[in-house]
Amino acid sequence: MKRLRFVVTAGPTREHLDPVRFLSNPSTGKMGFAVARAAAARGHDVTLIAGPVSLKTPKGVRRVDVTSARDMLAAVERELLSPLPDLAARALAKAVPLTPTVFVSTAAVADWRPAKCAARKLKKGQMSDTLKLVRNPDILKTVGRRLANSSSPSLPHPPTYLVGFAAETNDVIAEARRKCREKNLEMIVANDVTEKGAGFGTDTNRVTLLRRDGSVEKLPMMTKLAVARRIVRACEDFCP
Ligand code: PMT
Repeated sequence: MKRLRFVVTAGPTREHLDPVRFLSNPSTGKMGFAVARAAAARGHDVTLIAGPVSLKTPKGVRRVDVTSARDMLAAVERELLSPLPDLAARALAKAVPLTPTVFVSTAAVADWRPAKCAARKLKKGQMSDTLKLVRNPDILKTVGRRLANSSSPSLPHPPTYLVGFAAETNDVIAEARRKCREKNLEMIVANDVTEKGAGFGTDTNRVTLLRRDGSVEKLPMMTKLAVARRIVRACEDFCP
C-alpha cells in the first residue's frame, strides 16, 4: 500500500476578546482525532493540528496545538506550503516522486473574531453591549489558492489533495456540494449536525462522502473511528 502524508485539523478555534473571554463552538476534536488515528493505523505519516481540546494524541501522530483560526492557518501553511528544499532536491535528483499529501480539514474554525483583543481582562464597565467582529481567513480556501500558485519546477510541492467537512443544519447535500466546488476540494464530508448521534461531541456520526467527480457515498450511523476509516480509505483511492 502506498504511504501518504496526512495533515488533519481538529477541534474548535478560540477567538479571544481578552485573556479570559472568547468566541468558540462545541467541537470536541473527536472526529478529527479519529481521522488522525485511522490514518496512522494504516501506516501513513500524520500531523494533527488541534484547537483547544482535551483528547490524548493518537499513537504515531505528530501533534501541533493552536488556539485561534489565524494560528491554525499559520500551522497549516507551515505544513503544506513551507519549502521542502531537501526533500524536493532529493526527489528531483533521484526522480523519486514526492509523497502525496492529503489535507483533511475537520476543524470547526470560527468564521469571525472580535475586532480587538485586550491584553488584560476587561472590567465590566469597559465593555460595550455590542461586539465588533471581523472575518477570519478561510483556511481551506487560502491554502488551496496558495498551493495552486506556489509550486515551481525547481521547488515542487508534493501533490496535495484537499478534503473538507460541511457541518450543516439544512440543505445538507446542496450546501456541501457548493462548498466542495467553491473550495476546490477533492472530497467533502457532509455532516448533518442536527441529527441525534451525529455532529458535535458525539462518539458516533452519520455522513455522506461527496467526491469531486460527482460520486456520492451515504454512510450509515457508525462510530467516528469507523467513519474516519472510510474517509482514509477514500483518500487512498483518489491518491495516485
Ligand atoms: O469535533 P467533534 O465534536 O467530533 O465534531 C465534529 C464536527 C461536527 C466539528 C465535524 O464533523 C465537522 O463537521 N467539521 C466541520 C465544521 C465546519 O466548520 O464546517 P463548515 O461547513 O463551517 O466549514 C466547511 C469547511 O471549511 C470545513 O472543512 C472547515 O474546516 C473549513 N473552514 C471553515 C471556516 C474557515 N474559516 N476556514 C476553514 O478552513
